[in-house]
Amino acid sequence: MLTSNEKNTVIQFVHDKLAQDTTGHGIDHIERVVRLTQSIVQHEPSANEDVCWLAAYLHDVIDDKLVNDVQKAQQEVIMLLSTLSITQHQQDEIMLIINTMSFSKQLEKSFDYTINAKIVQDADRLDAIGAVGIARTFVYAGAKGSVLYDESIKPRLEMTKEAYRHEKSTAINHFYEKLLLLKDRMHTQTAKQMAQKRHELMLLYLENFYAEWEGRM
Ligand code: ADP
Ligand code: NI
Repeated sequence: MLTSNEKNTVIQFVHDKLAQDTTGHGIDHIERVVRLTQSIVQHEPSANEDVCWLAAYLHDVIDDKLVNDVQKAQQEVIMLLSTLSITQHQQDEIMLIINTMSFSKQLEKSFDYTINAKIVQDADRLDAIGAVGIARTFVYAGAKGSVLYDESIKPRLEMTKEAYRHEKSTAINHFYEKLLLLKDRMHTQTAKQMAQKRHELMLLYLENFYAEWEGRM
């Protein structure tokens, strides 16, 4: 079990790394993912709580959309993990989880996941949908200078990671390019159930959005 001192060290490390974020991936996102991870772990007896907790906290600090030098960030995380009371095998598993869980990475390749990886990935994806997910999408679009909606820019249904990141799109397109796909990609039963409600809210949201856009409501 991680000690509370060890946990505080990790929390401080993540706070320092993500303090500047204005794209919807700040510490509030991390803390929600940690809470969701804890809700899911309770129903997964074969999961390891420490591995899930650490992977949830650290999952975005090596992401290429958030840090300039991914290699350096990785080295720092490896160093940090080596100071904790977890095995080498667990350290390796955490690095593997945080290196392979991103939606954009999976556009090009699929991976075999451990139960711990599945849980943290589900938690991250739950935070991308529903009321919070909708809000984060507009925060991100604002930060990147994307427009709200443009009928002439169609959602992309097949895209490489490069295109996903750099081609022009809109906030509303993001629902079709990612958010509405997530419900069927959840791994655990708990996340599948939680995703259902969040998914329905997004559908209702889009319906109202178009009605308002067109002046029908
Ligand atoms: P991952 O970290 O799994 O690769 P992404 O980086 O694709 O996930 O997205 C994380 C969150 O950032 C999304 O759920 C969404 O809220 C926001 N986001 C990412 N790309 C876009 C985009 N093109 N338009 C609007 N929001 C986006
Ligand atoms: Ni995340």
